[in-house]
Amino acid sequence: MIPESFIEELLSRVDIVDVIERYVPLKKAGANYQACCPFHSEKTPSFTVSPTKQFYHCFGCGAHGSAIGFLMQYSGLGFVEAVEALAAQLGLAVPHQTSARAQEKARQQPLTERLARAARFYKDELKRSPKAIDYLKGRGLTGEIAAKYGLGYAPDDWQALAGVFADYADPAMVECGLVIENEQGRRYDRFRDRIMFPIQDARGNVIGFGGRVLGQGEPKYLNSPETPLFKKGEELYGLPQARAAIRSEGRVIVVEGYMDVVALAQFGIGNAVATLGTATTPTHVRKLLRLADQVVFCFDGDAAGRKAAWRALEASLEALSDGKLVGFLFLPPEHDPDSFVRAEGAEAFQRLAAQPTTLAEFFLRELKAGVDLSSAEGRARLVHEAKPLLTKLAAPLLRLQLTRALAEAAQVSPAELEALCGLKPLPRGRAAPPKSRPLPKPAALERTLLLTVLHRPERAARLPLELIPTESAEGAALAALVEAIEAGRLPTGNFGLLLEYFRGSAHEEVIAGLAGELEGSHSDEGEEETVFQDAIERLKARSLERRIEALIAQERAGTLTAGQRRQLAELIALKKRLLERV
Ligand code: UTP
Ligand code: MN
Repeated sequence: MIPESFIEELLSRVDIVDVIERYVPLKKAGANYQACCPFHSEKTPSFTVSPTKQFYHCFGCGAHGSAIGFLMQYSGLGFVEAVEALAAQLGLAVPHQTSARAQEKARQQPLTERLARAARFYKDELKRSPKAIDYLKGRGLTGEIAAKYGLGYAPDDWQALAGVFADYADPAMVECGLVIENEQGRRYDRFRDRIMFPIQDARGNVIGFGGRVLGQGEPKYLNSPETPLFKKGEELYGLPQARAAIRSEGRVIVVEGYMDVVALAQFGIGNAVATLGTATTPTHVRKLLRLADQVVFCFDGDAAGRKAAWRALEASLEALSDGKLVGFLFLPPEHDPDSFVRAEGAEAFQRLAAQPTTLAEFFLRELKAGVDLSSAEGRARLVHEAKPLLTKLAAPLLRLQLTRALAEAAQVSPAELEALCGLKPLPRGRAAPPKSRPLPKPAALERTLLLTVLHRPERAARLPLELIPTESAEGAALAALVEAIEAGRLPTGNFGLLLEYFRGSAHEEVIAGLAGELEGSHSDEGEEETVFQDAIERLKARSLERRIEALIAQERAGTLTAGQRRQLAELIALKKRLLERV
């Protein structure tokens, strides 16, 4: 856990314009800065960065957030990683409330440095090895692509790294996976006479290697072992190199092999990454869905490839949300992406990648293929096999779609299928896309108040907190905002800080949405003040109304006291005066 106070300090010291400018060239436009949005493709700039509010917002795609949010969205970093990256830019150390993570990082740093040094060494060795260069040329790679992926060569020598690391005997050499120690305690380099593929994390640190034999030999690929730095189930080969292309295409292609990634890049298809000889995990899918709305798995056309695709489907079920697409591209059985793109060209590959088999299609096809639908037993088996998969599925719309199709195949009703699979009915309203849900009318007033208070936080003090009804999302957010301002947590109009304050809370979405809206409006100050006062009057009138209604109900029930009758008369008069003013 990172203390809130540190986030506040960080965001008050950093300038979001500097942060974003490192990645996206910004142009000054009035008080703000503009650029073409890095999160969707566009020709005229609708991405705005506000230095006063320390907030970015795109009018085209709705992306928005603080400097931390930008790093998360742009680089696909997690929250803690983004905070660390930002802190590092400012030379600040991140205080972790539990220092476990800090200790872990401190332990990892020397390992990261060793791997970076080894990667430089292998890269230099490639330049010196005609046979390694010939191998890569023979596979159709240019020097440019080899450099982009930092490819190298581990020389044919048992202790080549001893020439690079004076402390070759240090346990860290074994710990980072570069060196192996045998039972006699003798040490030797793990990678010898192999083409080296450095594996990098999302930030570009080398965390491991894959090494390929030149030509024939076993094993074909040797990989770094799992180390404190390298978790195969979480990392993807080629991610830092692919990031820009993933963004501009809005799609990421997942392949199985190092060579597939590099060969596709050679053919101008830069948005491919590879799993590392392991099955796709939900962590992989989540990571990728943070960067793009569409993930296409493209595995070899053989039986193993299909099996890998099914594993990827299972991992996706957990990680997928509605609005995101997962697709599958099945190549002819004799091909992998590398050989396909060579044989058929980039255009043919792109055409296939643009029309993948959808997750729903693949799901149904595979399940149906395994059973005999003409028999009752077969149909029961279908339901039985679908059950654990449907239970995992996190996206309500997709679940609806799949249950319908499966129910049809199993010759039961969707409701029966849900019951058979023990699925809880979806919460009402969640199945409908959120956009089509009109804002509930009564919240309009809360919304107006929220907007005006967001714009001028000092207004919070003038707002009678007890009158804000909190049934609506806007009302609840308004109450939370006012409380935060009054507790002195949000003294400025720094939206970046504000969004971080509400990150992960129930109010995040409403507040972020309105902050974005505010960014786009240029309201007249005087007019806005009138709107604010007017909204307060209405709020008071509404509260009066409720008290009046309650008293009238009591009167009908015959329980109104004389005192209450007087009160009712006063309230009615008060309301009349209020309404005259509004
Ligand atoms: P493939 O056997 O499909 O190799 O393994 P490839 O990518 O087509 O390689 P080339 O084209 O012959 O050079 C796919 C992936 O499986 C893992 C590697 O990650 C590899 O990229 N693998 C394969 C291993 O880890 N070890 C192996 O011995 C083989
Ligand atoms: Mn291959």
